[in-house]
Amino acid sequence: MKTKLTQKIFEPLIEKKLDESKQGLAYEDNTNPNSSIKKAYIETYGCQMNFSDTEIIASVLKDLGYSFTTNVLESDLALINTCSIRENAEEKVWHKLKELKGIKKKNPGLLVGVLGCMAERLKSKLLEQEQLVDLVVGPDAYRDLPRLIESAESGMKSINVLLSREETYADISPIRLNTNGVSAFISIMRGCNNMCTFCIVPFTRGRERSRDYHSIVKEAQELYHNGYREVTLLGQNVDSYHYEDCNFAQLLEKVALISPDLRVRFSTSHPKDITDEVLYTIKKYENICKYIHLPAQSGNSAILEKMNRGYTREWYMQKIERIRQILPDCAISTDIIVGFCGETEEQFQDTVSLMQWAKFDYAYMFFYSERPGTPAAKKFKDDIPEEEKKRRLQKIIAIQNQNSYNSNLRDLNQTFKILIEGNSKKSDLDFCGRNDQNKMVIFRKKPGLKPGDYVNVKVHQVTSATLIGEII
Ligand code: SAH
Ligand code: SF4
Ligand code: F3S
Repeated sequence: MKTKLTQKIFEPLIEKKLDESKQGLAYEDNTNPNSSIKKAYIETYGCQMNFSDTEIIASVLKDLGYSFTTNVLESDLALINTCSIRENAEEKVWHKLKELKGIKKKNPGLLVGVLGCMAERLKSKLLEQEQLVDLVVGPDAYRDLPRLIESAESGMKSINVLLSREETYADISPIRLNTNGVSAFISIMRGCNNMCTFCIVPFTRGRERSRDYHSIVKEAQELYHNGYREVTLLGQNVDSYHYEDCNFAQLLEKVALISPDLRVRFSTSHPKDITDEVLYTIKKYENICKYIHLPAQSGNSAILEKMNRGYTREWYMQKIERIRQILPDCAISTDIIVGFCGETEEQFQDTVSLMQWAKFDYAYMFFYSERPGTPAAKKFKDDIPEEEKKRRLQKIIAIQNQNSYNSNLRDLNQTFKILIEGNSKKSDLDFCGRNDQNKMVIFRKKPGLKPGDYVNVKVHQVTSATLIGEII
C-alpha cells in the first residue's frame, strides 16, 4: 500500500513508505453480540507485515467480545502497533503516546497498549517511561492479549515480549481492516535470519519461520470466494520461504492456480536469494504480477559487505539483467540507504551510477538511521553528518524522479489490464487501479463497472507518479 505521490512531474519524489505511515482502524462491527461491552481503537505504523498483524490482533480482540472504533475518545482500549525501523518511525509513536496521555486524563479507564516492533525493542522501558502505557505486547505474543488485557484491567501493568520460533498465527483468521474488498495481504512467514547490520527487524521479529502452505492457500481461496481479486504474499525475505517440501516458487504456483482472476503479488525479494525458478514461475502464470521489489540498499560492494547484504554490486546487476531477460515486461523497484557508516563520496557515487544504470521504475529511499543494538551500531561509527546524508538523499531522489517519469513515459499509448480498486482520490467520476507492473492508473468510470472488475485502459497522459488513461 502506498501513499499518494505528488502529481507534479519534477517535484521530489518522496513517497512515504508504509513503515512510516500510519492509519487508524476504519472498521466498525455491530454484528458482534457482545459489541456493546467494550470498544477498541487500533492504530498501525510500519510495514505491510505490521498492517497484516493488526488484522490478527483485531481477530483476537473480536473473539474477546470487542467491537472497534475509529474514534479513540470513545474507546476503552487503545492499541498502537508500532515500528522501529528508523528513529523517526519511533518518534511518531512517542508523539502519539503523549497525545493519548491527554486523553487518558479525561478518561482514566482507558487502557493504552504498545504492540509490535517498538514493544519488542524497548520492552519494560515502555512501562517505566511516561507512566502511561498499560500493556506491552511483542509481535509473537498476540495470542496472549486476553490474559494481558485482563491483568491490565485489574490495575497491573502487563507485558509479554517473548519471541517464538514457531508462531505464525496460521490458524487465526484475520479481520480485514481498511479494506477495499479487492486486495489483501497474506503473511507467509515471520521474522528474519539475515542480520543486515543496519537493521532492527531480526531483533524485533525474531527468527525466520515459514507458515504452513495449506493455511496460506486456504486463506487465499477464502479471499477469492469473498470477492477479493488480489493477494500480496508478505515476508521480509520471501525467497527463503520453505515449508516441508514447498519452496517460494511452488507456493506462488499454488496460489496462482486458485483462479486466473486472482492476481498474485509478493514482497520482499532478496537479491541474494531470488532464483530462476521463481522468475520462470512468474513468467508461466499471467496472474502473477510482473513486478519485483528488489532492495539494493547500496551500489558499492564494500558498503554492501559492511551491511552484510550477501551480494556485490556485480551480483545485483546480474540479477537485474536476469529478471529483464526472463521477464522483459517486469517492473523493478528498490530500497536505497544513503549515508551508511563511513560511506565516502566515491562509494555514494556508486549508488548514483547503479540507479542510473538500473533505471528502477520506483524506489524507496532513506538516509541511514542508527538503531541501538544492531551490529552496525556496535561495530561502526555513524559518522556521516545529517546534512550530508540529506544532500545525498536529495540527489538520488532527483535521479529516481527522472527514472520514474521516463518509466511512465514508456507506457504512453499502451494498453494495460487494470484491476479496479475504487474511486480515484481526486474525483468520484474516476476509478483507480493498478496494472500488472504495480503502477497506479486513473481513468473515467463507465456504467456497470465496479471495484474488483478488470478493464483494459489505454494510457494517454503520464506524470512521474501516475498513468492517466481511458477504458477501451
Ligand atoms: N526485508 C526487506 C526490508 C525491510 S525494512 C529487505 O531485506 O530489503 C525496509 C527498508 O528500510 C530496508 O530495505 C532499508 O532500505 C530500510 N532500512 C532498514 N533499516 C534502516 C536504517 N537503520 N536506516 C535507514 N533505513 C533503513
Ligand atoms: Fe532487515 Fe535485512 Fe532482514 Fe530485510 S533482510 S528485514 S533489511 S535484516
Ligand atoms: Fe517496522 Fe517492524 Fe515492519 S520495525 S518495518 S514494523 S517489521
